[in-house]
Amino acid sequence: MKILMVCLGNICRSPMAEGILRNRVLQSGLPWMVDSAGTESYHVGEPPHPFAVRTAARHGIDISGLRARKFIREDFRNFDKIYAMATDVYGEIRDLSAPDDPMEKVQLFLEELYPGKIKSVPDPYYRPEKAFREVFDLLDRACIQILSKYSGLPAFSFQNAQRKR
Ligand code: 4NP
Repeated sequence: MKILMVCLGNICRSPMAEGILRNRVLQSGLPWMVDSAGTESYHVGEPPHPFAVRTAARHGIDISGLRARKFIREDFRNFDKIYAMATDVYGEIRDLSAPDDPMEKVQLFLEELYPGKIKSVPDPYYRPEKAFREVFDLLDRACIQILSKYSGLPAFSFQNAQRKR
């Protein structure tokens, strides 16, 4: 599986989702590849937001080395699944796509947690650190669903894989 997490800036939601999923993938020994990108270019080349870095670090996940990049059309071919963190992000990806790009690879991330529902991961940018922690917990719950769905391993095998410090 090659999975791409996409948000707007690639400094808050998608780098946390990338770090969470990669960490759990490594712990499970799955041969998966995880990456993230943003649909906007404001923060290209920047590390994740300091609150995102600190929130992930509290869970033993180091995302400080990640750098924001923009979503590009080649991503449609390079990934099996492309998760949009929010409905506006989904719309941006669709607007960037050409008619022959496989939009069926793109899915709202929270559909994994709430099948059939149209829900967005709240944007924590401009919000206090507590908002990043809440977003982290939501991302982690959805990542456990993704892992169990596509690895065939039961969801409980991924619970409590991380310890909060
Ligand atoms: P993200 O959050 O999409 O989760 O990385 C944002 C980061 C920056 C901006 C918007 C959302 N911005 O407008 O600069």
